Amino acid sequence: AQSEKESQYILSNFAKDYFHDMLLNHEQGKSIGLPYFKDRGLSMPTIQKFELGYSLEAWDGLTSKALAQGFKLEFLESTGLTIVKEDKKYDRFRARVMFPIHNISGRVVGFGGRTLKSNDKTPKYVNSPESEIYHKSDVLYGLYQAKQGIRSQDLCYLVEGYLDVLSLSQGGIENVVASSGTSLTEGQIKLIGRYTKNITVLYDGDAAGIKASLRGIDLILEGGLNVNVVLFPDKEDPDSYIRKVGDTAFKQYINTNAKDFISFKTELLSQEAEHNPVKKAEAIREIISSIAKIPDSIKRAVFLQRCSVIFGIEEQVLLTEYNKLMKQER
Ligand code: UTP
Ligand code: MN
Ligand code: MN
Ligand code: MN
Ligand code: MN
Repeated sequence: AQSEKESQYILSNFAKDYFHDMLLNHEQGKSIGLPYFKDRGLSMPTIQKFELGYSLEAWDGLTSKALAQGFKLEFLESTGLTIVKEDKKYDRFRARVMFPIHNISGRVVGFGGRTLKSNDKTPKYVNSPESEIYHKSDVLYGLYQAKQGIRSQDLCYLVEGYLDVLSLSQGGIENVVASSGTSLTEGQIKLIGRYTKNITVLYDGDAAGIKASLRGIDLILEGGLNVNVVLFPDKEDPDSYIRKVGDTAFKQYINTNAKDFISFKTELLSQEAEHNPVKKAEAIREIISSIAKIPDSIKRAVFLQRCSVIFGIEEQVLLTEYNKLMKQER
């Protein structure tokens, strides 16, 4: 008999093919799903490359098809494709455009599904739950399609969302992966680290989001990777921005606006602290603790120097503080 994992892989692959077929060949897919992707600027080659799909507006489109093909309810339930409640069973993904999530060997392990409605109580995205084959903290959306590009460019762009990956990839920036809205994990950073030591973070341009992402970015430093950050104008994300300005201007924008993470964080926090000395002291300690996470001692020294310039504080003072912190950590 097949292992549980193998059964889940085969079922997930079947579901991916089914959603893709619904998108391209079913009346609903052709009249609702495909136009949605077209409106968002996605081309057929992109739809094919990422194996995008559509889930019908029906209670059990996938479930009944899979059962009829001999797939066991047990695996439909354990992959989260089917929800079983009392004596009823229904599809988790209904009336959504579908983004299959691949592991690095290209096997489908889960799905994200986006609603087509813009003013509804339904959540914008529904995602597969954890399963034997899907561990969210060890997967990055788009990595399977991006890994060669990451290796050849020796750089990985990190974005928040599915659509950001798709738009950038279509625009010729193929070395891009998404953390899918959650904060980055050590496992995900290790995964990127197999292909490159350089990450450029392209997160959505909203202040709250950026503050919340600082912690996750510290983790990248701890992993010994180099991190740059690009800030987008308010309310823009990489997808909306590349669609607004075009491929060439977008590439130019990220090249001219990329800042190393420590300088970025230093400027952000020093602006916030303004002339408040208490806040300023807090900000400096916070940045020193980020610098302390960098494994390479020469890089640490360079960043301490930069930080001293931005804050207008003697480097010796920062060093004293830094040495205190290092003692505490041991
Ligand atoms: P965003 O809200 O920025 O969505 O969430 P988006 O990717 O820009 O999508 P569009 O442009 O509005 O269509 C970023 C990512 O966070 C995850 C998804 O992976 C999404 O792509 N997310 C967001 C969820 O998992 N659930 C949600 O309800 C919202
Ligand atoms: Mn497991
Ligand atoms: Mn966002
Ligand atoms: Mn978006
Ligand atoms: Mn977004």
